[in-house]
Amino acid sequence: MLILGIESTCDETACAIVENGTRVVCNVIYSQIAEHIKTGGVVPEVASRKHIEAIIPVLKETLAQAEKKGIKRDMIDAIAVARNPGLLGCLLVGNNTATALSLSMNLPLIPVNHIEGHLYASWLTEDGGQAAAEFDEDFESAKFPILILTVSGGHNNLVLMKNHGVYELLGETLDDSAGEAFDKVARMMGLSYPGGPAIQNLAKDGNTENGFKKGDEKAFKLPKPMSKNEHSSDFNYSFSGLKTAVRTIIIKLKEEARIKFPNYEAEAAKYFNSKLPDLCASFEHTICENLLSKLEKASLICNPKEIHIAGGVSANLRLRSMLEKTFSNSGVIIKYPKIAYCTDNAAMIASVAYFRYIKNPAKYQSNRISIPSVEKDL
Ligand code: KG4
Ligand code: ZN
Repeated sequence: MLILGIESTCDETACAIVENGTRVVCNVIYSQIAEHIKTGGVVPEVASRKHIEAIIPVLKETLAQAEKKGIKRDMIDAIAVARNPGLLGCLLVGNNTATALSLSMNLPLIPVNHIEGHLYASWLTEDGGQAAAEFDEDFESAKFPILILTVSGGHNNLVLMKNHGVYELLGETLDDSAGEAFDKVARMMGLSYPGGPAIQNLAKDGNTENGFKKGDEKAFKLPKPMSKNEHSSDFNYSFSGLKTAVRTIIIKLKEEARIKFPNYEAEAAKYFNSKLPDLCASFEHTICENLLSKLEKASLICNPKEIHIAGGVSANLRLRSMLEKTFSNSGVIIKYPKIAYCTDNAAMIASVAYFRYIKNPAKYQSNRISIPSVEKDL
């Protein structure tokens, strides 16, 4: 079954065609990052206007790529779209496009939850032949329950997946998501948007241009979020205190630089910048440690057969290596998506849709309009 997926919840305009829920035929993403760098974050009105400009070219490119692989548009069996949660103006662009395609091509329309999309990203592959067959088998025989930590700019959830489409939400963030904390802290440091990759790169390599070596994660002592309050034993997250602690350090470092080099602005800036690799490493390490400590605690209670991480922050290399280390002797299977499927994409949307559809095809025959709800839902 071939499903055309559409994603437009935040700042990526994306279309993809996926076969049988796992095999990515083509995956086209127009990222608005260049636009949002100017403001250091996503301005919803700007994002929705960019989606309007991009959606048709992205759709055309997806269909053209599919045609090169022998998939003609009349071979597509259904349309999927990320309906919620997201920025309303952005959602409307994807949902109106999906509705128009469904009506004009006379195809079922399958609206799905964006966060649920992230939960399916670890199963996506573009490999064909034997590798794909093994992958499908792996997917169909997925070992439930699966404990999944999904961490992005807009969401931060710990989910127990009991079967396809059956979830228990164990915990979520009470304020910022980890991705949002990365973005905001990067902005405070004067780094570019999105903050996650910028912080990771500075922590990993230092600033070779200035001769600064890679960051030391022990250089700055930062508070461990939610470790000593009434939430220490639940599975919720909070990153606002950590963000404030980093802000205080940044103010102190800038003051220190000014006192050291009162008449040399460039020298003061260099001094401040020389501290950033260490601060980035300390911040990144603290966030990863916190994300994983709750995941570890939940795994002891839920006894999952598999543990996955997903969402934009799951692209983080430190998080991946700390995850491997944390569960190395546990016997639990660890999975994370290919880097291309960590951040927002439409392949994950088409993947969820496949499992929704095969469970209950009749449900989608009469539903050809998708209207995003203004209420948050999971
Ligand atoms: O899943 P995603 O594309 O969008 C949402 O659904 O929110 O995630 C974007 C988030 C951003 O906050 C970005 O800073 C973060 O993922 N991110 C990373 C990395 N790559 C992206 N965070 C840490 N390390 C990375 N390598
Ligand atoms: Zn997302």
